[in-house]
Amino acid sequence: MKYEIDRVLLSREQIAKRVRELGRAVSADIEKKLHAEGDDTEAHADRVVMLPVMTGAFVFTADLVREMPLKLSIRLVAVESYPGTATESKGAKIRGAMPKDLHGRHVVVVDDIHDSGRTLQLIKTVCEEQGAASVMSCVLLDKQVEKAVDAPADYAGFEIPDEFVVGYGLDYDGYFRNLPEIVTLKEVGR
Ligand code: IMP
Ligand code: MG
Repeated sequence: MKYEIDRVLLSREQIAKRVRELGRAVSADIEKKLHAEGDDTEAHADRVVMLPVMTGAFVFTADLVREMPLKLSIRLVAVESYPGTATESKGAKIRGAMPKDLHGRHVVVVDDIHDSGRTLQLIKTVCEEQGAASVMSCVLLDKQVEKAVDAPADYAGFEIPDEFVVGYGLDYDGYFRNLPEIVTLKEVGR
């Protein structure tokens, strides 16, 4: 099946405004956690780890972290959930290495879209198994579908209808990630 862009669901301006709000909200939440641990800055060295789920979250994360006035580091995890050209979730699997040094750190899992919930559930579980001090999740989009698993996102930018979207990091068959807006696709034959 071939697809082309149907309509713009979220503009660059809408996304930028919301990402700014998310950055502030997540930062405030983390500041509170750090404050509760005491204000010893040494103790705070490398306490905050952003963990974007590759590849889709790379654009969102790049914008989000620049709205977070905090000392933080970034690790990556790659998850495979849509093999080939399929547009339906077939489950989530970690591809390659998962960072192994999350013990005692406040981890913010960042993803482009929350669909079945499998990705967030998988990554959150692995972070908790490592003994992270806290695990928060921040997704740009939350698709209004019945979730296959119960792993709600702590922060979500926009609720969107159950449609396949691309752009701003999200792909179809590896393409469209570089679109600055979030758009829906329409079928244009085989
Ligand atoms: P979940 O594990 O089903 O929650 O799916 C999350 C992952 O599926 C995301 O990280 C995306 O890579 C992918 N995904 C889900 N819905 C869409 C979509 O509409 N467009 C592009 N990718 C999607
Ligand atoms: Mg993804």
